[in-house]
Amino acid sequence: MSDIKLGIIGAGSIAVEHLKVIRDIDGLQVVGITSRTRAKAETLAAEFNIPSICDSIEALVERCHLDAMMILVSAEQVFKVSQVAVLFRIPLFIEKPPGLVPEETRMLAELAKKYSVANMVGYNRRYYSVFHKGMDVIKEHGKLLGIAVEGHERFWNIAGKVNKTLQSNWIYANSTHTIDLLRLFGGDIHNISAVQNSCKEKNGDQFSAVMEFENGALGNYIAHWYSPGGWSVKLFGEGVTVEFRPLERGVWMDTSFKENEINPDDVDLKYKPGFFRQMQTFAHMVKTGELSWPGMDLEASLLTMEMAQKISGR
Ligand SMILES: NC(=O)c1ccc[n+]([C@@H]2O[C@H](COP(=O)([O-])OP(=O)(O)OC[C@H]3O[C@@H](n4cnc5c(N)ncnc54)[C@H](OP(=O)(O)O)[C@@H]3O)[C@@H](O)[C@H]2O)c1
Repeated sequence: MSDIKLGIIGAGSIAVEHLKVIRDIDGLQVVGITSRTRAKAETLAAEFNIPSICDSIEALVERCHLDAMMILVSAEQVFKVSQVAVLFRIPLFIEKPPGLVPEETRMLAELAKKYSVANMVGYNRRYYSVFHKGMDVIKEHGKLLGIAVEGHERFWNIAGKVNKTLQSNWIYANSTHTIDLLRLFGGDIHNISAVQNSCKEKNGDQFSAVMEFENGALGNYIAHWYSPGGWSVKLFGEGVTVEFRPLERGVWMDTSFKENEINPDDVDLKYKPGFFRQMQTFAHMVKTGELSWPGMDLEASLLTMEMAQKISGR
């Protein structure tokens, strides 16, 4: 197959991270870019040898004969831009969050189905090599018994500094990164019970949930947005515990309590972690029309957002 021709929408910091990866993967070629501020698109086009700079999505599609598009715009714009992009019936990579509330993501999933558009949403942490090695350690010892995720946000740095709608929907816009890890490690949920509290945010800023997965494992999620804690995951197995704290560093111990490091693969050190394998998964989807695990499409993203909705009590 000839190179996959990609069009990029959005010329911000995350576009740069994707472009670094695309440059190093055989069979991918960025043929055009459009963004709100043309000067930024021009800067990226010069840096990454992108031949065509366009003033709209329509022009990008018309001029560049695309095989796929990547929507890398500001979080509060993703839904609006995706609604337009899906109409061109070209496979889509959509940065998270696809919608700022579950209803928006549901609408996009329905549109993608209606127009038969293969799609993938950018939850890059699903591709961390340390996570997959950690899951292997658990499996080597038996079954997964439990998962504990801490998803504290640094809200003192966020409140008042981002778009108001984005701030009030932060649990969907950003906390779905950590909430989604419960689904990555545990799969589908059988039942969930959650409590919430608030010290400043009207939609809550403290969350605590317990859940049972269909495979029988138990899960816990806690997040205190005004308490410095960071993001972490613990996986509990039979005679073994794996910890990621921070998420990029893995350690496992057995009943001797000796700590064993889990080393990340080179691609997670060279690029923004998860981005290389995420892009390989996207390229495979564009070629075959099939999205392989652990890829998330709009329908799967909706499940994660619905889980966030239950945790938030909204
Ligand atoms: N997976 C991750 O770990 C991760 C990390 C960070 C961000 N993200 C996601 O990536 C996306 C982009 O984030 P970022 O940090 O790159 O943001 P950013 O630096 O603000 O860049 C966003 C870019 O999109 C452009 N844009 C905004 N609205 C547009 C529209 N309607 N049409 C065309 N272009 C538009 C902006 O144009 P202007 O130059 O005019 O502003 C800017 O160039 C967000 O959805 C965010 O949630 C994911």
